Amino acid sequence: MTFGATETLVIRKATPADLDAIKAIADAHRHELGFVLRPALAESIGRGEVLVAENHQGLIGFAEYHHRRDAQTTLYHIAVIPQCRQQGVGRALVNALCAEASALGKLTVFLKCPADLSARGFYACLGFEVLGEEPGNGRSLIVWTLSLTENTQKTRLFRRVSPYGAEGQI
Ligand SMILES: CC(C)(COP(=O)(O)OP(=O)(O)OC[C@H]1O[C@@H](n2cnc3c(N)ncnc32)[C@H](O)[C@@H]1OP(=O)(O)O)[C@@H](O)C(=O)NCCC(=O)NCCS
Repeated sequence: MTFGATETLVIRKATPADLDAIKAIADAHRHELGFVLRPALAESIGRGEVLVAENHQGLIGFAEYHHRRDAQTTLYHIAVIPQCRQQGVGRALVNALCAEASALGKLTVFLKCPADLSARGFYACLGFEVLGEEPGNGRSLIVWTLSLTENTQKTRLFRRVSPYGAEGQI
């Protein structure tokens, strides 16, 4: 029996045991994510600010973020392995991140993404809005924000995959 990427999908908090697999996914996306430092990833895992997407194949994606002291959550890095894309895994990661941010009283999710990446279509699909564009390190960055207070955004976010899969927990 073969499964699609999301049939056995669980979104859960990363643990230190996931560090190698997360770093391997990050390193495979250096063009998109830049160089993701292992100690910084380990710190984020320690703070409980990394989510992983896991299915029968193993770890297939991750999202690293930070809940600031004010009302903003910042998404630093997100990636899904190529063979599992366009099946709702990235949406499920953002979905879980937004659920967690909302539960903590955050009002917005904020991120910067290189303007040349096709990921801009992903953020637009999830209801993010462009705040502006700014110069980056050799390429310009689009600044995106998502309001966690608007029901319409939530409907779009929660449309496809439940945040934690059948067994996942945060
Ligand atoms: C961006 C990324 C995380 C999206 O993950 P994914 O699992 O493919 O996304 P999903 O399947 O959950 O897509 C959610 C929606 O966004 C759309 N979408 C996803 N990637 C898209 C793209 N590159 N262009 C346009 N739309 C896109 C999907 O069609 C889907 O829309 P739908 O629900 O209306 O069908 C993945 O493409 C990736 O890892 N890219 C490389 C790393 C990267 O660029 N990270 C972002 C750095 S800023």
